[in-house]
Parts: sequence; structure tokens; C-alpha cells
Amino acid sequence: MPEKKGIQHQCSFCKRVIDVHDQYDMPIFDPNTGFAICKNCVREINRFLDEHDAAAAKSEKKAFADQLDEMLEKNKPHIIKQYLDEYIINQDHAKKVLSVAVYNHYKRMKYGYQNDDGTEIEKSNVIMLGPSGCGKTALLSHLSKLLDIPFAVTDASSLTEAGFVGADVEVAVRNLYYAADKDIEKAEHGIIYLDEFDKIARKSGANNSITADPGHEGVQQALLKMLEGSVVEFTARGQRKHPEAPTIKVDTRNVLFIVGGAFVGIEKIIAKRLQKASSIGFGAEVQGKDEQPKFDELIHQVRPEDLMEYGIIPEIIGRLPVICTLETLDEDALLRILTEPKNAPVKQYEKLLAMDGVKLVFEEDALRAVAQKAIERKTGARSLKGIIEDVMLDIMYEIPKSDAKRKVTITKECITAHEKPRVEEIA
Ligand SMILES: Nc1ncnc2c1ncn2[C@@H]1O[C@H](COP(=O)(O)OP(=O)(O)OP(=O)(O)O)[C@@H](O)[C@H]1O
Ligand SMILES: [Mg+2]
Ligand SMILES: [Zn+2]
Repeated sequence: MPEKKGIQHQCSFCKRVIDVHDQYDMPIFDPNTGFAICKNCVREINRFLDEHDAAAAKSEKKAFADQLDEMLEKNKPHIIKQYLDEYIINQDHAKKVLSVAVYNHYKRMKYGYQNDDGTEIEKSNVIMLGPSGCGKTALLSHLSKLLDIPFAVTDASSLTEAGFVGADVEVAVRNLYYAADKDIEKAEHGIIYLDEFDKIARKSGANNSITADPGHEGVQQALLKMLEGSVVEFTARGQRKHPEAPTIKVDTRNVLFIVGGAFVGIEKIIAKRLQKASSIGFGAEVQGKDEQPKFDELIHQVRPEDLMEYGIIPEIIGRLPVICTLETLDEDALLRILTEPKNAPVKQYEKLLAMDGVKLVFEEDALRAVAQKAIERKTGARSLKGIIEDVMLDIMYEIPKSDAKRKVTITKECITAHEKPRVEEIA
């Protein structure tokens, strides 16, 4: 090939004179001023910029990792548990499981930011089971207030498969995004709590031949993708979903999932499995004189196959390696819930009436009666507040009629026989 007659330009950077065969030899050339940069220099500049970007990213990561050190220090399991203890009575096991899960989540984050050797610390998503009103939702909502990372609670029972009336599963991630103040990177390391998780169980069993299941299996499939880690796309709040709507994308690979529910009736599934096992000669754990084994004894023996039988697809169960059960609250526990937590109902009424110059006293018998009533209602601690409210309404109405300093005593009979509380004037 005959050489084209050589045009030559001088690189304004390295000052070399270059034979220019085509524009790639001198990628930058301004004919007006003669300003030029040669191929080598462009490469050099490029490399320099790449190095700079990498270093900047690294120092940004390091800054975050340093912040993580601080977070780790602040969020050691026993510290998290101490905080939960201020609000939630009993449930020590669940508190421990959650504290460790959260602490490990921070560790995993730190590890991810500091190590590039390819080793992975796997996520330990948690599934919580426990009777109604035992503190599942309360635990998680207090936990969410404590943490420095975004934490969003979504009611799984409101989720439906795309196409059904209701919220798509993406809502869970969208809630997290808003909990992270719209910081995508933060959201990608957050925690999602799916409450009422049992409500999306597939309606399995005999009576489910043709009846419509409002997309529960579809919801589970969609949630599975999220649990496995995928890029979830959603529109901003208040924005209707249509093809041209701008979307936000959040990768859930590093999001920790905690799910919880009452799983009403699962004890029967567990009992059946245990019975079967014992009848063919294996461990007779629950068989015996006790005709109706206690719910608590059974629930603590829950296994993944019971959840499957309940109607959760196996792939999801496989993604929830930590199973945590909560206990039924007994009378003593309910009594403590009335008085001990920072936001205990009795404390709240004491404060309210103190503002009217009134000293409120609940007799121990009265509190016990409240607890017993709550047990009868079988909704755990949930009904405590309502029972007290019923008793307190008249007092709250009557007391402000006068400015006199008084003492109000709630007796057992106020609870059991609708007697009026005792009101005395005090000095
Ligand atoms: N262990 C507990 N300690 C203190 N308060 C509790 C406890 N358990 C429940 N409560 C109180 O009772 C109310 C109901 O509890 P919560 O909503 O956590 O129940 P849950 O376990 O989520 O039940 P469900 O399965 O029906 O949703 C809460 O507002 C909380 O204040
Ligand atoms: Mg709940
Ligand atoms: Zn040059």
C-alpha cells in the first residue's frame, strides 16, 4: 500500500511530532489553533482518569466502611436486645435471634465493602412464628426505630399478584427506598420486614380445587425473586404505573428479609407430623397422656416441611434459613406488659391523670383481672389496652370537671363487675 503523503502535527502535550495517517493518530486536533493531542497522550489521560475514579470510589467505600465500624460498635447484639427489653416483655429468644441477625447484617455489609477476595457471607433471612398479639409486629417496629440502616415494614397480606386489585410486591422495596430517604445505595443494604406473612400462604389441601386464590402463589413467586436478589423496579409514590412512567431500580441482593406471622393452625400440622413419626416408631415427642399438647411445645418444633404443608412454597422456605418462634404470653407476662415497658398503658394513664393533679393507682388484683380478661379473649397482649380504656373512659371524662387534688384507685371489681373506681380527695 502506497504511503499517503505524510501530514505531520505536533502534540501539544508531549511535543512529539506525529505522522498523521488518519484521525486516530491525532484524535484531538483543532485546525484553527493547531492544538492537538496524540493517541498516546489520550490513552495516558484516560488511564489517569480511570485510576482517579477507582481511588475516589475506594475512598468513598472506605469512608462508609469506617462509618460501619461505628455502627457495628453501636449495634452489638446485647445492645440491641437491651433496647428491645425496654419495650417488649419476654420473647428473649426472638430478641436474641433478631439482634444477631441485624448485627450480622452490618458485618456482612462491612465485609462486602472491604473484601474483594470473592468469599461471600450469606444472608440469614429470618422467619418468625408466634401466636397473635405476642409482640411480633411490636418487636420489629421498635427495632426499626433503633437502627441506622433503612428498615421498612410491609404488610404482606396487602400484596397481590400483578393484575389483581391491591399492591404489587414491589411496594415492599419502594417502602424501603422511602425509609432510606430515597438513597438507592442505602436502600440496597436495608432490611425489609414482611408482616402477616402467613396470609400469602397458598390455600392448599382438599378444599382448594377450583376456588380462586387471589394470586397468593403468584405473590410468593414474585417475593421469591426479591428474596433471591433481583433488581426491583417501581414508580415513585403517588405516580400511576404506566409504561412511560419513570422508574426507580433497587437491587435486593444485599437486603435482609425478615418475615413474620401467626400461622394460625400450624400447630395441627406439626402435631400430625409428630404423631405420624411416632406411630411408625420414631420419637414420641408429644404423644402421651396430654391429649391436646400445648401450642408452645408444638410451635417450637416447627420444621420447614410444616411451613410447606401450610402453603409456603419450598423455594421461599429455603431462602429463610433462620426459623424463630415466639411464646404465648401468660398472665404474669401480661401483667408486666401493663406496667413495665417504657410505653406501658398504666404508665401512660398515670401521666395523663397527673396532668390533672390526680394520682392514679391500679391495685395488683385489678391488673391481674385485666390480664385474665385478655387471656380469655385469646388475642395475647392486644386486648389489654382496650380493656383498660373501657375502665378509664368515665374517669378521664369526669376528672377534669374539678381542680381538686385526688387519688383514683382502680380495684379488681372495676374490671370484673364494672364498679366505679374509688376517688378520694388528697391534700
Ligand atoms: N411481649 C410484649 N411486650 C410488650 N408489649 C407487647 C408484647 N406483645 C404484644 N404487646 C403489645 O400488644 C400489642 C399487639 O402486639 P403485636 O401487634 O406485636 O402482635 P403480633 O404478634 O404482631 O400479632 P398478630 O400475629 O396478630 O399480628 C402491641 O401493640 C404491643 O404493644
Ligand atoms: Mg402483627
Ligand atoms: Zn502526545
